[in-house]
This record gives sequence, structure tokens and C-alpha cells, in this order.
Amino acid sequence: MKTRDRLRIAMQKSGRLTEPALELLTRCGLTFRQSRDKLFCFGEGEPVDLLLVRDDDIPGLIAQGVCDLGIVGRNVLSEFQLTAGRELAPLSELRPLGFGRCRLSIAVPQELDYHGPQQLEGRRIATSYPGLLGEWLRTHAVNAGVVMLAGSVEIAPKLGTADAICDLVQSGGTLVANQLREAEVLLESEAVLAGPLTLPVDERGDMLELLLKRLDGVIQVRE
Ligand code: PRP
Ligand code: MG
Ligand code: ZN
Repeated sequence: MKTRDRLRIAMQKSGRLTEPALELLTRCGLTFRQSRDKLFCFGEGEPVDLLLVRDDDIPGLIAQGVCDLGIVGRNVLSEFQLTAGRELAPLSELRPLGFGRCRLSIAVPQELDYHGPQQLEGRRIATSYPGLLGEWLRTHAVNAGVVMLAGSVEIAPKLGTADAICDLVQSGGTLVANQLREAEVLLESEAVLAGPLTLPVDERGDMLELLLKRLDGVIQVRE
């Protein structure tokens, strides 16, 4: 692969993390040539560019070396770490960013009298997070069927294709709208800065260090 001298950060093209991520980078003194409808934003001051992509693709892009960093939910990063092939470079959570807070939870039909994990034995659970759900099920020694859905997971119990769901909960509005209630919290999530386990030792590495320093300053001020 061609070596790059500019740092490249992957972030969500359009979604809940897009605005706060851009605002954070702006506070770190980065400015970009406005082209949010396009996939690429060129950094004007510092040698740092943005790649606007689907959030689920961000860990893979870093692992492949296409991007140096990513702003992504801990849920997406953790799922990648559990399910990615060993041939891909391992990633690490460099910084928690303090926005986009939500939980990955198991939810059950409102009318179910939920007592604990064993009640899920032999049930089917719909999710977009088979890695994280699978790990939780193993930890609790529960044998359950995992039904994979890419989105609109909360509809599955009504459709009869699952007995419970495992998905993100932020306001809880989607659960209520689907007559579900939270039964177990698997992961507390927020936006994080993801990167490779070992940082590059070149100009990009220097820029990355500078960015981390500014980030720490901005995050400290906010707290
Ligand atoms: C997310 C998530 C939940 C919902 C949680 O879905 O998967 O369904 O938001 O938010 P709430 O608790 O505030 O209702 P999103 O809207 O991103 O759609 P998707 O599931 O189709 O990706
Ligand atoms: Mg999504
Ligand atoms: Zn959803």
C-alpha cells in the first residue's frame, strides 16, 4: 500500500455521532474544506483529512491501514474486536470522547416477568451484535439462538422471528414504541477515538501525538 504523509480520520457520514464528532475536531483546531455530502474532507490547516463512511466500516478501515484513526461507538469497536479475523491488525480505544452515550442491552416483551439470564435459555434473540451477545451468553452459560439483523432489530419480537432483542438503547423510546423493556445491560457505550495498537513512528505519528494532546485539553475543559 502507498504510504501517506497526512493523517486520515474515519467518521460516521450521517448519524448521531456526526455533528458532535465534527465539533470536537473543530475544537482541536482542525478545519476542513466543507464537502459533507462527499466521502472525503480535506484538512486545511493541519495535515489531517476526514473520510466519511458507515460507522460499522470504521474499525475495518483502521485495521486495513486505510485510515489511521476513527471516531466510532465503543459498541462497534468492541464488536469488531470480537468478530474480526486474526489476520487483521488489532485495534485499541485511544480515548473515550464523552458523547454518544448509550447502552447495548437485552430487551424482552413488556409483559414478560423477567427474573434473570436463565430465562433466555432456548430463546431466540435478534441483534446486530452477535459477537458481544455471544460473549455475554457464554459468560452466563445460556444457550440461546442468535438471529442476525442489520437494523430495526426491535421489530423482531412482533414479527415472531425472535423472543427478545439485543440492541442499543439511548432514550429508550424505540423500546417503548415496540412494547419492549430493558432486561440486561451488556455494555455502556460512548463515542471513542479508535486507532491501531502501535502508533506509526513517522510524521503521521507526530501529528497523532499532537492531536491526542489537544484532545486531552479539550476533554478536560469540558469536564
Ligand atoms: C438505534 C438503535 C436503537 C435506537 C435506540 O437505531 O439501534 O434502535 O437507535 O435509540 P432510542 O433508545 O433513543 O430509541 P437507529 O436509529 O440508529 O437505526 P438502526 O437500528 O436501523 O441502525
Ligand atoms: Mg447503525
Ligand atoms: Zn436500531
